[in-house]
Amino acid sequence: MRMPTPPISRAYLMCPPDHFGVQYAINPWMDPGRPVDSERAGTQWRELREVLKELGHVVVQAPARRGLPDMVFTANAATVIDGRVLVATFRCPQRAGESALFEHWFRENGYQPVARARGVNEGQGDHLVANGMILAGHGLRTDSSSHEETSSYFGLPVVGLTLTDPRFFHLDTALAVLNEREIMYYPGAFSPQSLRVLRSLFPDSLEADDADAAVFGLNAISDGRRVVLPAAATGLAQRLAQRGFEPIPVEVEELLKAGGGPKCCVLDLRTPPTTRTPVPV
Ligand code: ARG
Repeated sequence: MRMPTPPISRAYLMCPPDHFGVQYAINPWMDPGRPVDSERAGTQWRELREVLKELGHVVVQAPARRGLPDMVFTANAATVIDGRVLVATFRCPQRAGESALFEHWFRENGYQPVARARGVNEGQGDHLVANGMILAGHGLRTDSSSHEETSSYFGLPVVGLTLTDPRFFHLDTALAVLNEREIMYYPGAFSPQSLRVLRSLFPDSLEADDADAAVFGLNAISDGRRVVLPAAATGLAQRLAQRGFEPIPVEVEELLKAGGGPKCCVLDLRTPPTTRTPVPV
């Protein structure tokens, strides 16, 4: 077994599922005809929040808004790196109203600079930082034409990765950064060319199988040692443990009806808001 890196205490932005539901279908998981148990969704979301707090992380909340049922998936609110915030511009009109609300939240909470993406860019759902690079998923939601803007805003290289399977419509549904050097991903979600890029940049990564990917196992939150992931991804949990990580399973079936898992419900702010009204919960 290898020595894992020590856990890093993080700050996560979450939004309660007060108005969560499946009212439209913008990904293959969503079926407005299939009922969501709102109470259970609330319980699963709160359990995730408690798990993160028990692990020593700070959780802050943005208020939910009626009519924006996907707002619970704060990973899509923005990309935040070293306190710089690039607020998302959504592909689908159903989520477009979220941008102004999240932009307001970041300004109110002392973040600077805060800008709205000019190109279609669905935030941390498609932008994950590893080894000083921004891994950027595109093809299904975020536009590759937005990569240049993202790279110059953050002053970091962007590695574009083409997503090809509509079930894995954001990068964070098919790839998770475990620590600065190690990632795990589902090969079936990427174009052959992007797979070559991943394999050469991260030769020692964990490649997930179909069964674990199909239950959103890659939609995981890692602090460098503990990895919070859907409970159904049992094979992946075992493989993570073999690598020296500590898998922390959480139930997320109700959220999965909208195409969301643990990672979709958090935006990694890295450090807590500086100010005025920090509302750790
Ligand atoms: N229903 C949401 C959508 O289709 C799910 C978002 C999942 N978020 C994520 N970061 N993968 O936009």
